[in-house]
Amino acid sequence: MIPDSFIEELKNRCDIESIVSPYTNLKRTGRNLKGLCPFHSEKTPSFVVYPENGSFFCFGCGAGGDIVTFVRMAEHLEYTEAIRFLAQKTGMPMPEDAENDQTAKLKVRILELNREAARFFHATLISPKGAKGLQYLRSRGLSDKTIRRFGLGYAPEEWDALKKHLLAKGFTEYEMLEAAVIRKSEKGRSYDQFRDRVMFPIIDLRGGVIGFGGRIMGDGRPKYLNSADTPVFKKSRGLFAMNLAKATKQPRLMLCEGYMDAISVHQAGFDNAVATLGTALTAEQARLIAQYTQEVVICYDSDEAGQKATARANQLFEQTGVKVRVLSIPDAKDPDEYIKKFGAARFNKLVEESSNSTEYAIEKIRRKFPPDTDDGRVGFLKEFCILMSRIPNRVEADYYLGKTASELNVSREAMTSQVDSLRRRSQKKEQKKFDSDLKIYGQDVPAARQDLQRSANMRYALAEDKLIAALLKNPDYGRKLSEKIKPEQFATDFNKGIYSILLERINSGRSLDMISLSSELSIEQMNRISYLLATASQSNPSLEQAQQYADIILEKQRQRTNEQVGSMNEQQLREYIEQLAAGKK
Ligand code: UTP
Ligand code: MN
Repeated sequence: MIPDSFIEELKNRCDIESIVSPYTNLKRTGRNLKGLCPFHSEKTPSFVVYPENGSFFCFGCGAGGDIVTFVRMAEHLEYTEAIRFLAQKTGMPMPEDAENDQTAKLKVRILELNREAARFFHATLISPKGAKGLQYLRSRGLSDKTIRRFGLGYAPEEWDALKKHLLAKGFTEYEMLEAAVIRKSEKGRSYDQFRDRVMFPIIDLRGGVIGFGGRIMGDGRPKYLNSADTPVFKKSRGLFAMNLAKATKQPRLMLCEGYMDAISVHQAGFDNAVATLGTALTAEQARLIAQYTQEVVICYDSDEAGQKATARANQLFEQTGVKVRVLSIPDAKDPDEYIKKFGAARFNKLVEESSNSTEYAIEKIRRKFPPDTDDGRVGFLKEFCILMSRIPNRVEADYYLGKTASELNVSREAMTSQVDSLRRRSQKKEQKKFDSDLKIYGQDVPAARQDLQRSANMRYALAEDKLIAALLKNPDYGRKLSEKIKPEQFATDFNKGIYSILLERINSGRSLDMISLSSELSIEQMNRISYLLATASQSNPSLEQAQQYADIILEKQRQRTNEQVGSMNEQQLREYIEQLAAGKK
């Protein structure tokens, strides 16, 4: 759990205006700011930012909340990830890094240990003992400068060379095991994890050595041995060479499959190459990349596995909004091999000419249906038109339609009308879905976020809304209100959830700030709260008024009881009357 004090500090450091403005143009109107909503498409602005309480609300689609909710919605992040995102923006270290003392200390020790191990591997590489490793790296075309830049090394062909070295430096066996640089045999003897391999240290964004990859020099398995996950290392999170690439002046990053590819690409003059760590790209890594760049060039292997991975990566990047280009590598297995065969200049040219993701998708269809036969052409045109109908930008689609029409010598008009009809069909589907949503949700604002229970209990639901708004503005009403009405007595589950969290927080003396609430409330609940605050911004109900709202909600309770009494048998009725007499009801 993230401590309240951290959230408080975060709130002080990021103002909502600067968080929101990269996503939409905001104009000042009085105390508030207004702009086009980043969450639905609209022509006149209905998205309002309230700097006073750090919230936003869109009167068009009902999206609303605090900065954390905003980041969650805009970046599709989980709560903790959104906090991490904001913390990174303001340069605050995440509290989990300062978590419980012992783990924090262990992490520091592992980082020190890893650094020492990397030093040891590098020193060994350039010593006589490392001649074999150095020769291998040179045979792969790496210059001494590159070897130094990446801190490459060699793990000697011994069972405990690193272990001895680290013991002499004051590290314990426990720490080595935690860092995963040694392992234990079944008999309980421990030995170096990496032996007779060239070593690639993996360095995080802060410059800490978090793990290693070690390549065998001949044949044998595994080809690459990677550090197991440790308290400082998660394969699915890190990216090799990101420590270097993050500083690039290039407007893009180059994503490779392997250590050697990333290094070769750097040596060929690109300081912006990174690589995943032996697993397929994860959503986490895609988002990390998206935080650092506007465009990514996928430079995966040219084999089938590489192409599959490319398609998958493409999907992940689509969700982040990063522009994607795909490098296709002719006559070589991977970027490293291409550079070795044809040189850096040719590789440069390849990057220049690399296609964007639409071209890549067209290329894929072309491979599936080579359009040089009649059958192929039919198949190609069919899938091509479907692809074009899904491109939101008509200018872009027109461009490819024109190009393909002249290449295949088919009528451009015929294709365009086919694409238009596909577009209309999918729009109709959307519209239908929207209409049926509306029917379910009822029409009152914000339409898209209503539920059935709410529309069946509108009178009580509105009273609940008002009571919640009153409580948000006056947490000191909490004690009196909680005596008057319990969460269970609410008519809608949705508001019940909010009310009970608010009461709990008030009882334990915690803040009802928007940003503090977002740690416990769902996005939908935050949307509602910001709606309540936005629509109640002018008025501030007194405690008496708030209690009247409670009375309205309690009517529902009474109504329910009357119905129940009506359907009771004699026995039940007698018990009920006795209870009433005893003052229980
Ligand atoms: P590749 O097999 O494509 O190797 O694996 P490569 O990058 O071309 O390496 P070289 O050129 O033969 O030296 C791509 C990546 O997959 C991971 C590594 O991260 C590697 O860089 N991998 C591969 C492993 O983790 N373990 C393996 O045994 C093999
Ligand atoms: Mn390779």
